[in-house]
Amino acid sequence: MKTQVAIIGGGPSGLLLAQLLHTQGIDSIVLERKTKEYVLGRIRAGVLEQGLVGLLEQAGCADRLHAEGFTHDGTLIAYGDQMFRVDFTAHVDKPVVVYGQTEVTRDLYAAREAAGGQIIYNVDDVVIHDAKTDAPYVSFAVEGESLRIDCDFVAGCDGFHGVSRKTIPEDARQEYEKIYPFGWLGILSETPPVNHELIYANHPRGFALCSMRNAQLSRYYIQCSLDDHPDNWSDDAFWEELKRRIPPEQAEALVTGPSIEKSIAPLRSFVTEPMRWGRLFLCGDAAHIVPPTGAKGLNTAASDVHYLFEGLKIFYKNGTKDGIDVYSEKALARVWKAERFSWWFTSMMHRFPDQTAFDLKMQIADLEFLRGSTSAQKAMAENYVGLPY
Ligand code: FAD
Ligand code: DHB
Repeated sequence: MKTQVAIIGGGPSGLLLAQLLHTQGIDSIVLERKTKEYVLGRIRAGVLEQGLVGLLEQAGCADRLHAEGFTHDGTLIAYGDQMFRVDFTAHVDKPVVVYGQTEVTRDLYAAREAAGGQIIYNVDDVVIHDAKTDAPYVSFAVEGESLRIDCDFVAGCDGFHGVSRKTIPEDARQEYEKIYPFGWLGILSETPPVNHELIYANHPRGFALCSMRNAQLSRYYIQCSLDDHPDNWSDDAFWEELKRRIPPEQAEALVTGPSIEKSIAPLRSFVTEPMRWGRLFLCGDAAHIVPPTGAKGLNTAASDVHYLFEGLKIFYKNGTKDGIDVYSEKALARVWKAERFSWWFTSMMHRFPDQTAFDLKMQIADLEFLRGSTSAQKAMAENYVGLPY
């Protein structure tokens, strides 16, 4: 097989890149390790920045998002007996859109299928060859049959556990990592959200987040220990713990019901540099991870896709490498700012096992400064709605 861009990974990064390239007549093949149903079964992010909304529009995949997504102009932050609102539109004149990653992925799959674009599922043994030459290729197997794609470029969109990052020799990459000593236990339930905007709560028993997917589908998270397991939590136990951690008025109003998904995610900050090696480009979780507080994972994957798409567009239009040569530098400059925001928001909102009395005072001071300062709220709003590309 032959294509212009071989895309490894059929998650949101890979699919979005494929659709954007398609709008420019640039051919690609997407290789996905799992089935479509499996990818669509993963419950992940829920808050989209305007930048990602714009890219989905550009890719021709935003109709359902505009019809069904919810615009949020602000968010609530609770701690002690306080709760305050950070108003995004008042401070930076931009909202965010609540629309699940599952739905984004579903829309991208539908567009890919409508365009007759190729996605090969259930691939095994993916290996990237000759990335440092002008003729890279990807070998893989499907149901025992060995196959090969010759291409101009390889986009490594295969998530944190994929093969792309590891293709770059260890002595050619530098990794930066911080592991947090807790996880998030999340549930999805077919109940109306407790509030029309998200609530982030810092509580002595641990962090809690009230989020949503739509008017009848709620997403809630509580901080949990890393060695915990979803099976240790009955639905009733989850709801009781959530109620303890959110303000009394919201606890009272909370509508509970059976969970339709329950899982634990560990929290990690991770960046690999550079994000390019020869003709291999890393995008999204393949290159970086943020802790979920602030919903930057999917949105940062999207900004990588934007920079790579712009670079490839210039290459195929003018035959020059100017765009792709600055990809890693441009993407990383924005990635590190998203890393900083996610780390800051995580640090301010969670209880850490080794936190001293001084650390706790610092956390409260950080929250009180945010509550009382217009400029601090503006800085938070600027980051939350997404820094410019
Ligand atoms: P992925 O979504 O990981 O997609 C990579 C794809 O590559 C997958 O489909 C995988 O099957 C495929 N793949 C892997 N290896 C190979 C291979 N060798 N060959 C072919 N295909 C391969 N972000 C938020 O903002 N909010 C959240 O609440 C949130 N919750 C999350 C919960 C979990 C459990 C995880 C893991 C992430 C969460 N994130 C969240 C982060 C967000 O979902 C990711 O940033 C986003 O999915 C990144 O998209 P991606 O396409 O780069 O990677
Ligand atoms: C969601 C996840 C987040 O990490 C966040 O900050 C906001 C919302 C969610 O899954 O809905």
